[in-house]
Amino acid sequence: PSIEDLAKKVDGLSLDALADKYPACHPEINPLDLYRAHLANVLEPITGVDPKLIYTNLQWTSSLDKGDLALPTASLRLKGAKYDQLAKEWAEKFPENDAIYEKPVVSGIHMSFFYRSVPLVSSVIPLVREKGAEYGRNPYHGLRDPKDPSKGKKNMIVEFSSPNIAKPFHAGHLRSTIIGGFLANLYEGAGWNVRRINYLGDWGKQYGLLALSYVKYGDEDQLQKDPINHLFHLYVRISAEMAAEKDDITKRKEAGEDVSALEANSLDEQARQYFKKMTDRDPDALAMWKRFRDLSIVRYKETYARLNIRFDEYSGESQVSEDEMDKIGDEMVAKGICKEDKGAQLVDFSALVPGKEGKRLEKPIVRKKDGTALYLTRDISELLNRDKKYNFDHMIYVVASAQDLHLKQLFKIIELLGHKEIADKCQHINFGLVLGMSTRRGTVKFLDDILRDVADKMHETMRKNETKYNQVADPAGTADTLGISSVMVQDMSGKRINNYTFNMEAMTSFEGDTGPYLQYAHARVSSIRRKANLSDEDLASADLSLLTEPHAVNIVRMLAQWPDQVQNTLKTLEPTTVLTYLFKMTHALSSSYDHLQVVGSERELMKARMALYDAAHTVLGNGMRLLGLSPVER
Ligand code: ARG
Repeated sequence: PSIEDLAKKVDGLSLDALADKYPACHPEINPLDLYRAHLANVLEPITGVDPKLIYTNLQWTSSLDKGDLALPTASLRLKGAKYDQLAKEWAEKFPENDAIYEKPVVSGIHMSFFYRSVPLVSSVIPLVREKGAEYGRNPYHGLRDPKDPSKGKKNMIVEFSSPNIAKPFHAGHLRSTIIGGFLANLYEGAGWNVRRINYLGDWGKQYGLLALSYVKYGDEDQLQKDPINHLFHLYVRISAEMAAEKDDITKRKEAGEDVSALEANSLDEQARQYFKKMTDRDPDALAMWKRFRDLSIVRYKETYARLNIRFDEYSGESQVSEDEMDKIGDEMVAKGICKEDKGAQLVDFSALVPGKEGKRLEKPIVRKKDGTALYLTRDISELLNRDKKYNFDHMIYVVASAQDLHLKQLFKIIELLGHKEIADKCQHINFGLVLGMSTRRGTVKFLDDILRDVADKMHETMRKNETKYNQVADPAGTADTLGISSVMVQDMSGKRINNYTFNMEAMTSFEGDTGPYLQYAHARVSSIRRKANLSDEDLASADLSLLTEPHAVNIVRMLAQWPDQVQNTLKTLEPTTVLTYLFKMTHALSSSYDHLQVVGSERELMKARMALYDAAHTVLGNGMRLLGLSPVER
């Protein structure tokens, strides 16, 4: 039956009536909403408790042997109640032959509820088939008014990746890219209007220095062919020169020499002057800088595409208007937020924010004594500008925890400027370090090099099994996808805030909870479908009540959880929430194969089991795509 039929049958209620009765109740996209609503309906007369209270206090269990849903009676906060007593009483009064629940099991104050398998299996598999790629998505979460879609979606900005031109795309940028891409997918799937912004590090004196280097050593051909590496090498070369020059000047100074001429002509001073030309919008200086930027973006885009990531906007520090920064600077002075200190302007938080917090926020500079703005100054202006431009409801900055203080300072300054409501819409999503990351070829940590190394490693592994290797149509492409999955899954396995060690051996292994293993599990369900050679009509007409084995029912119980898992992920904002679920699913699948043979079984049984595995294939694929992975079929 459809979920709708089931609702009518068990409660005599339409889905609309259920949606009116319970908060955020949408059984047509989330089967557990029906299960919760029904349970609250049944418990209402038994307990005399407001069914909404029951509905919102039903919990997940930690594993299927503990039931599908649980009610810790104490969570209802009833005055003077003996909770263990209540649990026992209520369980006794629970109907013997409820349509979708077994009789509850009680342990202490906990009531555990188990689904009956036939209605579960015969409603969840068709729902997964009907929704397909949409299963797990929730169009309601991001609506301005969940009751009235015509009022539109809420606006979300996810700012992520944000590498610095001419500098290595390091592990921090990789993590920001992976986590940010995932969060953008998550909110889009939850019905938000998501804007993906890449805020490039593309401004400052170092881009003056880079231009000098290009004039001296640049090579047009190389710039076209490989802008990222060429610019990096130019930058490294001139930085070394500048460092040597500084050393020399210091030594001469110490020896009593007059170094003023040397200083006036130094690379540092030339870079400063060149950057000044850029801020004064000198056309030639800007044209060269823009070429570096544009060529770099072309390359970044290619790499992002391999990671299934795109941006709506390549913004960057260069895009922040000097005029606006001047205005905000004046406003900060007028409001007493910043004060002069040896010619520079700084924000002394200890004088503005009481107690420990004020001390912790330190004393950042927002204007150097030569009048130039800084990273923080640009962020302040950019944030206020985004608020005007995009009217966002929420904005997420995906930036390493090394910048915790920077973002706290930013949000606090916005608040002190009188925009608490804007600061409250902003959220810093931080993450820990990647340790021990270097490539086999050398020390520079460009993302492309890392992805190439991991793909090579996967290719080596694939070659070890010649027969299977020969069955893969595009081995190099598959090796690349597996390599990327390896890196991404390792990155998303722990909580974001934890550091982890980049371990090529571990991440590329087919054993353990790795990217290759997840891909293998997905390809394996795919291959069953190919071997079974059944049509969609065959699967749609399968008699699902034949799925009685515990292995089959347990897989369906997990499939039913997927929309809830996504809702929970919207609370944790942790990729590992999804990954943990997917690995549980792959384990359940792998231990089921011996019990649920498809090919070789009698035809009706074959159809039913195939429908089950096909639904599992859909959910695994949906979860992997949410994480930004490209599921492989072979
Ligand atoms: N480009 C910066 C870096 O590499 C990250 C930018 C983070 N975003 C921001 N709005 N500050 O460190």
